[in-house]
Amino acid sequence: MEAKKAADSLVVMNELVLPNDTNTFGNLMGGRLMYWMDIGAAMAAGKHCNKPCMTASVDNISFKNPIKLGNIVHIEVKLTRAFTTSMEVRIRVWGEDPLHQHRYESNEAYFTFVALDKDNRPSPVPELIAETEEEKSQYKAALRRRQLRLILGGKMAPDDATELKALFVPAAGATESKT
Ligand SMILES: CC(C)(COP(=O)(O)OP(=O)(O)OC[C@H]1O[C@@H](n2cnc3c(N)ncnc32)[C@H](O)[C@@H]1OP(=O)(O)O)[C@@H](O)C(=O)NCCC(=O)NCCS
Repeated sequence: MEAKKAADSLVVMNELVLPNDTNTFGNLMGGRLMYWMDIGAAMAAGKHCNKPCMTASVDNISFKNPIKLGNIVHIEVKLTRAFTTSMEVRIRVWGEDPLHQHRYESNEAYFTFVALDKDNRPSPVPELIAETEEEKSQYKAALRRRQLRLILGGKMAPDDATELKALFVPAAGATESKT
């Protein structure tokens, strides 16, 4: 499988917040936003691996600013790293006031997708090539985020999370591995 560039996975989505998308405060509902984020992330993961993909996990999401009724939701999605069958996807969300042409941060999150074969079993994905400084930094940190989420998901023993431990105990001096 040929490695693919992070930039090639880019997905940009825009949605208009309509009355049916809002809560009683007149702001976009968190659940509706997460639905759009999941769709954008699935498209980015699918662009990278050209296989059907399943959401395996969603990391912590904090909403910095509410997005108002009538504002535009701007979602940008890009892969940060591909592992064996899974891919980490970074999703960034802004609100946009179209009348005042003002854009404000809403939130950022990392989702993990797993590529599936015809029997719906995890299937290998191409490696990801990080080119820009930001992509390289995201790529490097993806390993620590993966270890943290696998520990929280009961899929990894904390003792095996060498890169994550090295954050807290630098002397642990981890060499980068895939786990
Ligand atoms: C995600 C799923 C396919 C993983 O299948 P599995 O049999 O547990 O497979 P494995 O343990 O072999 O793991 C496969 C990959 O998933 C990753 N994975 C599994 N659980 C994970 C989790 N909680 N968070 C992040 N990655 C996870 C593994 O690290 C592995 O990645 P790698 O191959 O790159 O190392 C399976 O758990 C599933 O179908 N879950 C339900 C998904 C779903 O319904 N999503 C919502 C609707 S789209």
